Amino acid sequence: MSLDFHRRDRKALDLSGKVIVVVGGGQQSGPGMGNGRAICILAARHGAEVIAVDRNLPAADETVEMITAEGGSAYAIEADVSREADCQRIFDTTMNTRGRVDGMVYSVAINPPFDRESNAMTVENFDHGINVNMLGCYHCNLFASQCMEKNGEDTNGSIVNISSIASVTHQLGLNIGIMPYALGKCGLNYITELTAAQYAPAGVRVNTLMLGPIDSVIGNQDSQKLFGYTPGEVEDAYHDVVKLKMGRGSVWESAYAAVYLLADESRFMTGQQIRLDGGATLMR
Ligand SMILES: NC(=O)c1ccc[n+]([C@@H]2O[C@H](COP(=O)([O-])OP(=O)(O)OC[C@H]3O[C@@H](n4cnc5c(N)ncnc54)[C@H](O)[C@@H]3O)[C@@H](O)[C@H]2O)c1
Repeated sequence: MSLDFHRRDRKALDLSGKVIVVVGGGQQSGPGMGNGRAICILAARHGAEVIAVDRNLPAADETVEMITAEGGSAYAIEADVSREADCQRIFDTTMNTRGRVDGMVYSVAINPPFDRESNAMTVENFDHGINVNMLGCYHCNLFASQCMEKNGEDTNGSIVNISSIASVTHQLGLNIGIMPYALGKCGLNYITELTAAQYAPAGVRVNTLMLGPIDSVIGNQDSQKLFGYTPGEVEDAYHDVVKLKMGRGSVWESAYAAVYLLADESRFMTGQQIRLDGGATLMR
């Protein structure tokens, strides 16, 4: 750990020597970039060895190729986070091959199909949404914490759970009102606080990065697919809810915030919900 914070020549947000698992480190196919992939790339640029985990192995492999092409270190694991055994295998594999886990980002989320007039859906789709958006997060937080507490330092590891402003408001339209998505994110916020409280004595930190409208694959494609918006309508609708003049954020803003939470510079922060939403939930 590099704690020479007072030094003028300190390299900021240095993740060298850290093994960081990004669950959801591939991305949906489509133009642009996903948040998980951007976090993988930026963490590697800051020196981390990155484990990109995804149900879609070719997508995770593509992230790894992007990192290794620019001289970084990464490898991919295929896992379906709706299965507890897969979640356990992610961390067993990382411990067996790398010997430690210093960071974990849970960036997976899905919007199951639903009837947009009535918000009705099948029980199977509802269950799958909750299993992926919430239960997988719980398992990954638990198994990551169990690895991190073995590191044997004052600050043993950092977990970043990627949530959404859908968990704190339902008035902003677009895809944030879909129940297993919003409910899953509410659960994820709670999992952050629970894990942070339980593992603070072990030196493990856990924070929520709560995203607002970000120009990412899920932000574009799900809004178009589920609500029938054109790309221009997606842009306009998101622009309306963001208070900052810039409109939507990019995946790089998410990635820089995640890197800060993974780095030693944030070592006194745990159990927090950080809103990265351009003021979309600013109340007055
Ligand atoms: N883009 C936005 O506007 C926005 C807003 C709020 C929150 N977020 C959050 O950001 C995070 C990432 O979004 P993104 O745009 O990068 O999405 P993305 O769809 O590009 O990435 C999600 C990844 O999760 C993977 N995945 C899906 N189901 C899985 C499963 N069962 N097991 C393992 N992997 C699985 C997908 O294959 C995909 O690679 C999500 O948690 C999302 O809720 C995004």
